[in-house]
Amino acid sequence: MLSSTLIRPGTRPRTFAVAALLGLLAVFFLPVGQADASAPLRQHAAARGKFIGTALATGPLSNETQYRNIAATEFNQITAENAMKWDAIQPNQGQFNFSGADTIVNFATQNNQQVHGHTLVWHNQTPGWVQGLNATAMRQAMQNHISQVVGRYADNPAVVSWDVVNEVFEENGNMRSSFWYNTLGLSFVADAFRAARAADPNARLCINDYNVEGINAKSTAMYNLVQSLRQQNVPVDCVGFQTHLAIQYGFPTSFQQNLERFAALGVQVRITEVDIRMQMPRNSSKDATQATYYRDVVRACMAVSACAGVTIWGFTDRHSWVPDTFPGEGAALIYDENYQQKPAYTAVHDALAEGGSSEDTTPPTTPGTPAASNVTASSATLTWTASTDTGGSGLAGYNVYREQGATDPQLGQSSTNSINLTGLSASTQYQVYVRARDGAGNLSTPSAAVTFTTSEGGGPTGPCTAAGTVQTQWNNGYVIQPVTITNSGSSAINGWTVTFTLPAGHSITGSWNAALTTSGQTVTARNVSYNGNLGPNASTSFGFQVSRPNGNTQTVSGYTCASP
Ligand code: G3I
Repeated sequence: MLSSTLIRPGTRPRTFAVAALLGLLAVFFLPVGQADASAPLRQHAAARGKFIGTALATGPLSNETQYRNIAATEFNQITAENAMKWDAIQPNQGQFNFSGADTIVNFATQNNQQVHGHTLVWHNQTPGWVQGLNATAMRQAMQNHISQVVGRYADNPAVVSWDVVNEVFEENGNMRSSFWYNTLGLSFVADAFRAARAADPNARLCINDYNVEGINAKSTAMYNLVQSLRQQNVPVDCVGFQTHLAIQYGFPTSFQQNLERFAALGVQVRITEVDIRMQMPRNSSKDATQATYYRDVVRACMAVSACAGVTIWGFTDRHSWVPDTFPGEGAALIYDENYQQKPAYTAVHDALAEGGSSEDTTPPTTPGTPAASNVTASSATLTWTASTDTGGSGLAGYNVYREQGATDPQLGQSSTNSINLTGLSASTQYQVYVRARDGAGNLSTPSAAVTFTTSEGGGPTGPCTAAGTVQTQWNNGYVIQPVTITNSGSSAINGWTVTFTLPAGHSITGSWNAALTTSGQTVTARNVSYNGNLGPNASTSFGFQVSRPNGNTQTVSGYTCASP
């Protein structure tokens, strides 16, 4: 369930008593609006309207007092490092064991922390019994697992979000050739999200991956998939960027820009598994570089209003997956193995504290109703009466949203009380409103909406076009994904039919997001209930899998699109 942002710091441990007292005294001597330097990370994060999280392992949580104390004091969001994975919860079919998961959720509840559930559908840490199932049984097992696991915590206010699918891409942007994908095709992704939404309508549902921090082939594939799923009303609310970095490979400089392009799709973004490793041994210069990386990760999230927060994958070098996986590398976290804070801790602390005010929880005033001018087929200018901010952190800018049902996509951000919207669809009605944002991340209530309609475009006419891409192929089969259908006319279409030709000896073995029938060598694909309506220039897609004779290298051809 979603709950309001947690801002109450957790119980302070005895070892922090002196620092806490000094911190308390400092509050009385600091000017209003300046952060208490000794405050824990979670207090600064909450003042910015963000979470600062950590991944926890159940072993040290029960065995080590210092581990428990720091986890409780410094963080306001928890992810189970392993305890909520499939092999931990359902090692044998139908036998559910929630003991580790409950340990994490109970710890978070006691310490006023939120829990991010990790992870429902992954190719790793999933028992062999799942991997050996046939397609029908595997889909059922997946839906049942999601329903049981998400359902268990649906009424628990601590558990607010889930990684529904994890790491579904290869580095080149192809879908990962996992047992999920190879058995079920791409449809497992949409089915997983729908099952999670059914089990908890209020949880935030995320797709999560690594090496997607910068703009690259993999992050662009993720962007395209999220866009396509949302166009089909698949409930993807959030995108997680794992952010397992290494100082020897450089910082992904397009990180913030990448977060912003995802945010513009209307999803929440979050940094889910940060660690920044180095080649051992540590030295002060490597520590300093690592600190700047941590600072820049936190800053990227702070700068993007749709970024909900940052989770670090553990917090102490005493317990980290890195040395086991990357021999010779390590020291990736913000505390050393003796629980001493490293420069990376200070960097995270200062990046959370800078520009924000630990006192500012007052949102700016509501902006005036926007007025639309210069409306063309693809752009419009909006201007509104400015907001004011009295909370101390100052007015930072405005977020502009399109009113569109359950989730309103953000169309843009502006630092002034005006914006030029571009990339709009022709002949389309837009209802747009604005929210003001302050330096602490507080958002005003929405302005009233302005309604305007873009003019007719002069683009190509005709009902629709279709084009397919071979996503992956092997000796005796291949996957075509996506077949993209675009409404190339100037008015909406309600339904489409795509035909194409199968080479001799080929047969369809599965499909998703379209209903396929085959007659001789001609295949006809018709839209399904949720993807037939396309406005001008809008696109949707479907996919299918084909088997072919061993050694044959042909694929389908001759796509044509018609709209009834
Ligand atoms: O629990 C067994 C224990 O009984 C056994 O004696 C021991 C022997 O090796 O293994 C223990 O299991 C290990 C488990 O962590 C718990 O410590 C597994 O071998 C080990 O493979 C597993 O590693 C986890 C890894 O995911 C698995 O892929 C790491 O702790 C965990 O940090 C890591 O987390 C992943 C995220 O879920 C997804 N993104 C990447 C991230 C880092 O790889």
